Amino acid sequence: MRKASRVVAEVLFHLKSRVKPGVSTAELDKFAESSVRDMGAVPAFLGYRGYPATLCVSINEEIVHGIPSPARIIREGDIVSLDMGAVCEGFYGDAAVTVAAGAVSGQAKRLMDVTSRSLEMALSEVRAGARLGDVSHAVEKYALENGMSVVREFTGHGIGRHLHEEPSIPNFGKPGSGPLLKAGMTLAIEPMLCLGRAEVVIKNDGWTAVSADGSLAAHYEHTVAVTEKGCDILSAVPKAG
Ligand code: MF3
Ligand code: CO
Repeated sequence: MRKASRVVAEVLFHLKSRVKPGVSTAELDKFAESSVRDMGAVPAFLGYRGYPATLCVSINEEIVHGIPSPARIIREGDIVSLDMGAVCEGFYGDAAVTVAAGAVSGQAKRLMDVTSRSLEMALSEVRAGARLGDVSHAVEKYALENGMSVVREFTGHGIGRHLHEEPSIPNFGKPGSGPLLKAGMTLAIEPMLCLGRAEVVIKNDGWTAVSADGSLAAHYEHTVAVTEKGCDILSAVPKAG
């Protein structure tokens, strides 16, 4: 899982600098697939429940599961969520980031910042002996305090030999409730926040989830392992050198 997650982290890192006005989401997907395969891993989303690509690219009001297309061109001011999974020797890694294309609005920046920090808040609750509700609540609390809304239709998940395992990890919940975390558990934690209301509509392609009110959405995700004292972020971006 460390290998698979590292592949995901590195590919997302290299993709970030390719998110620019004029680039199609299909070009990003092509780069992602060849990078994953060059690193000796296999794309995890491609073919998963019929999903047709390596990457999910979700722009602006798209929350998750945007399907890459040569016709979808990134524009100045877009916020672009990149979500990818990889498999190495039968084990999965999964991570997501949201990237600004050129100069974006102050509101968009704030949404990205709050969503990214809400993931950090969640990770700071992860340790052996904590409850899953502590983790879920941390995202919800931070998001609401900062005036953002939390998507309820999609959740994080256990991950390991499969992309999606038990438990489901909602981005809202009660502290002290839910499954007890134990060292060695591996989790994909993924807050999805909106600037407006968080109701979701699925587009006619059967995949793309957008905010019903058209408000901007952001998404960040890490694959982590629970340890006695905290967590090991398996999909952390590798330090240079
Ligand atoms: N990263 C998402 C998740 O964790 C997307 C996977 S769905 C797929 O659930 F079909 F696109 F693979
Ligand atoms: Co995931």
